[in-house]
Amino acid sequence: MEIIIVENKEEGSIKAYELIHKALNEGAKVFGLATGSTPEIMYEKLVESDIDFSEAVSVNLDEYVGLSGDHEQSYRYFMQKHLFDKKPFKASYVPNGLNDEETEVARYEKILAENPVDLQILGIGQNGHIAFNEPGTSFDSITHKVELTDSTIQANKRFFEKEEDVPRYAYSMGLSSIMNAKKIILLAFGEEKAQAVKDLVTAEVATEDIPSTILINHPDVTIIVDEAAAQLI
Ligand code: GLP
Repeated sequence: MEIIIVENKEEGSIKAYELIHKALNEGAKVFGLATGSTPEIMYEKLVESDIDFSEAVSVNLDEYVGLSGDHEQSYRYFMQKHLFDKKPFKASYVPNGLNDEETEVARYEKILAENPVDLQILGIGQNGHIAFNEPGTSFDSITHKVELTDSTIQANKRFFEKEEDVPRYAYSMGLSSIMNAKKIILLAFGEEKAQAVKDLVTAEVATEDIPSTILINHPDVTIIVDEAAAQLI
């Protein structure tokens, strides 16, 4: 696991942007993408650049159950706004929050099987979740429906008018699906991520109590953290 410590989110976002550019130049075709505040500036850098994703495919990690793609808080909407509308891919897949569980799991697993991820971008939750794989999720998990923990609901309520509006369930790529990516870049910025970063980089064995620790078993992981997120390591 390579750890890159940068001064701040801006610098980390530029670093991530450069690694994406390099991967594309080296032939990567499928990019696994994440939502949240963490990758926002990285998407800005991609949009401002001359990078061309028109022959590439993107596959997103997760989506709230019950929100349509044009709901302002849906992850599809986020991706359209921050990246896809300005920098289109040949195809961009995001789980469909309106489908029933059985339909969506089958549909998304087929998409992942047909589009093996070359480079996966990840954020990390304060409790060590990646995508919406909350503590306790099986390392063998594939795409599944998740009940969000209270800590995730609390962390995400800032995007909604009121806490009751935060969906209670999400569809998420599973941990084993994430591990299938050839290369993984995890970004963590800000002091609220410091404990999660420490838990990940100091883990000696992977434990399902801290989902991110599965990454210590992956052969090609780069972690980009700013000084605030790195303060406990
Ligand atoms: C959310 C998303 C994750 C994201 C994480 C951190 O719950 N499902 O994919 O990495 O929380 O979010 P943020 O980047 O806003 O801190």
